[in-house]
Amino acid sequence: MKPSIILYKALPDDLLARLETHFTVTQVANLKPETVQQHAEAFANAQGLLGSSQTVDSALLEKMPQLRATSTISVGYDNFDVDALNARKIALMHTPTVLTETVADTIMALVLSSARRVVDVAERVKAGEWTKSIGPDWFGIDVHHKTMGIVGMGRIGLALAQRAHCGFGMPILYHARRQHAEAEERFQARHCDLETVLQESDFVCVVLPLTEETQHLIGKAQFAMMKKSAIFINAGRGPVVDEAALIEALQNGEIHAAGLDVFEQEPLPADSPLLSLPNVVALPHIGSATHETRYNMAACAVDNLIDALNGKVEQNCVNPQVVR
Ligand code: DGY
Repeated sequence: MKPSIILYKALPDDLLARLETHFTVTQVANLKPETVQQHAEAFANAQGLLGSSQTVDSALLEKMPQLRATSTISVGYDNFDVDALNARKIALMHTPTVLTETVADTIMALVLSSARRVVDVAERVKAGEWTKSIGPDWFGIDVHHKTMGIVGMGRIGLALAQRAHCGFGMPILYHARRQHAEAEERFQARHCDLETVLQESDFVCVVLPLTEETQHLIGKAQFAMMKKSAIFINAGRGPVVDEAALIEALQNGEIHAAGLDVFEQEPLPADSPLLSLPNVVALPHIGSATHETRYNMAACAVDNLIDALNGKVEQNCVNPQVVR
């Protein structure tokens, strides 16, 4: 008999078919308690769980006594109770490599659009305001050869450093727990403490996962250290930044502008002060959201679940030591 799994995210037909050759699949719309109750037997029997963007906590895990592996269609796994998974030796699989280049592209899009005011001026053109040769009130600031500060030098940080240094001639400063030999050799990146990155960078890009250590890592004191001309970019996780402090820094002119793909609350509430600030570019968490990359992430997550339920956790597993 095929193992049973719960799928809580729609998949392209070919990937669903692949999943169904290996497993008996129960598809659900979400992981809310009502949904779990409605499909109680399927949850009780499921050995695998596949999807994204939902909370997987101990209350849910209690309803899934047979669970052996979870597979998220994302690199980030802050919505999982990893301790609870570890306690039961349940594998947590994720998609750390397939989205790197796409997310780095998104960050450069935020850098360019905040500095050159792409969204702001394009809206003015659409509103019919381009009626004569433009003046300084339409100008932005340069990106090329400015200093790029990267907070977090993982795969995405490295891909960002490549774009910024090789494409735009930007010197790179970075803060990470460890020195990154490849970033230093290939892009002459300079390893600094956080304070130095904040004080010396023209663009401060945060590319960190959300953990207890990184929650509100960037707050009032950190914005106060940045240049008044600095542009702040967050494409990691919203709660890494104290959003109220960011809003204050933008309103008081402590920093010049912000480009944001992630927020403390997502979707961003319509009454967020961020939406009425002209110096903010706000995106709806599109970091990896291209057709190609989202397909590749889903394919990777399907393969990850097949592997994990076959006892293979060498690749893309967050907690292999516990599972083994
Ligand atoms: C991830 O995979 O964690 C990203 O945030 C999705 O864009």
